[in-house]
Amino acid sequence: MVIAVLREREVGERRVSLVPESVGRLVKAGHRVLVETGAGAGCDITDQAYQEAGAELLPDRRAIAAAADIVLTIRHLTDGQDPIWEGIRPGTVLVGMYQPLSHSVQTFENWAHKGLTTFSLDALPRISRAQSMDVLSSMSTIAGYRAVTVAAERLRKFFPMLMTAAGTIPPAKVLVLGAGVAGLQAIATAHRLGAMVQAFDTRAAAREQVESLGATFLSLDVQTAQTQDGYATAIAEDQHQRELALLAEPVKNADVVITTAQIPGKPAPILITREMVLSMRPGSVIVDLAGESGGNTEVSQAGEEVDVNGVRVIAPVNIPSDLPLNASQLYSRNVTAFLQHLEREGLAFTETTHACQISSTDEIIQRTLVTHEGTIRSQAVLDRLPSRGAENVATAPVR
Ligand code: NAI
Repeated sequence: MVIAVLREREVGERRVSLVPESVGRLVKAGHRVLVETGAGAGCDITDQAYQEAGAELLPDRRAIAAAADIVLTIRHLTDGQDPIWEGIRPGTVLVGMYQPLSHSVQTFENWAHKGLTTFSLDALPRISRAQSMDVLSSMSTIAGYRAVTVAAERLRKFFPMLMTAAGTIPPAKVLVLGAGVAGLQAIATAHRLGAMVQAFDTRAAAREQVESLGATFLSLDVQTAQTQDGYATAIAEDQHQRELALLAEPVKNADVVITTAQIPGKPAPILITREMVLSMRPGSVIVDLAGESGGNTEVSQAGEEVDVNGVRVIAPVNIPSDLPLNASQLYSRNVTAFLQHLEREGLAFTETTHACQISSTDEIIQRTLVTHEGTIRSQAVLDRLPSRGAENVATAPVR
């Protein structure tokens, strides 16, 4: 198969979808890999490194997309202006993180009309079989680590306890709210830096994980909420209010709060109100990782640092791009595992029409497939087209 790696064009995006290590693996397995010149520049991977791994470097993005069976990206291909749309053939497969739960349905309708088969890796089920492909966990691991280093840089205090001839400096108090992938990594990183770490999550199973990392799990009397498969679900409104009340004291006493709470497909729950921010000591720092889905902190603004009475509230966006090489390495391994899975599940193209064939009922395929054979397949997107449905999408005008 011909696999294309495009240079990401979104402002601030420094990652690349495939690193030379994975290129080498795919070439060895008999695939051709076409890489757009400069694709790795954002994470300091040279064109030469790709060539040495067996990739073919091409400057013309349109020509690469036209020759490809599979196009790999990280995020959405920016807009209708992108030259790839002039060349891309029906049946071509797109693989990336396309946010079927929240991105404009118009984009997915357009893809269906172009006859593209698209897979969104952020829709992967979090099951053990899919772990090697789990891009969200990879990116959240980076976000959790980075949230702590950002906080440590912004806090004008030591993280560890220091015992000096001039006396003892107490350790910073770090509170982590939400102990999923990002939260656990934040806990581990803050603990390694010597901070005193407390954490809370509404899933009962999180307690043991938090404690195994050396942090204290806050015993808040709030009803736990999770599905049978371990996914978080929203807690009842009275329980939410109770959580806010019980968090008031730990938030007030913290030097750093890192918030990572999310419910898949829902706006992020507010865990810190403006009033709670105002109760904190000036100089304290909040890093709100959920900024892009509305924020866990009432005052946070995605992509901004706001100062509320001396408390710095930072809501970074696209944190993985701060560590672009590691983020690309992890993403690349995830995407390679996914491609291998597609092959095992029988992905193929007809020689004459380049139609993509994949009839697998496998859960990983079904959950990640967004468009195929001219229709939208993702339930998350279909749910946002209540009056239309998949059949009608195929007859809507091309935009
Ligand atoms: P996750 O789903 O693994 O963890 C979220 C945790 O929040 C779950 O354990 C859940 O039980 C908990 N939670 C839900 N409601 C809660 C509540 N009311 N109180 C306490 N805990 C609650 O999610 P993951 O992968 O760790 O991501 C966390 C956040 O970080 C998400 O909002 C994600 O979008 C964001 N993120 C942001 C990035 C950025 O660049 N800003 C990059 C990567 C992730």
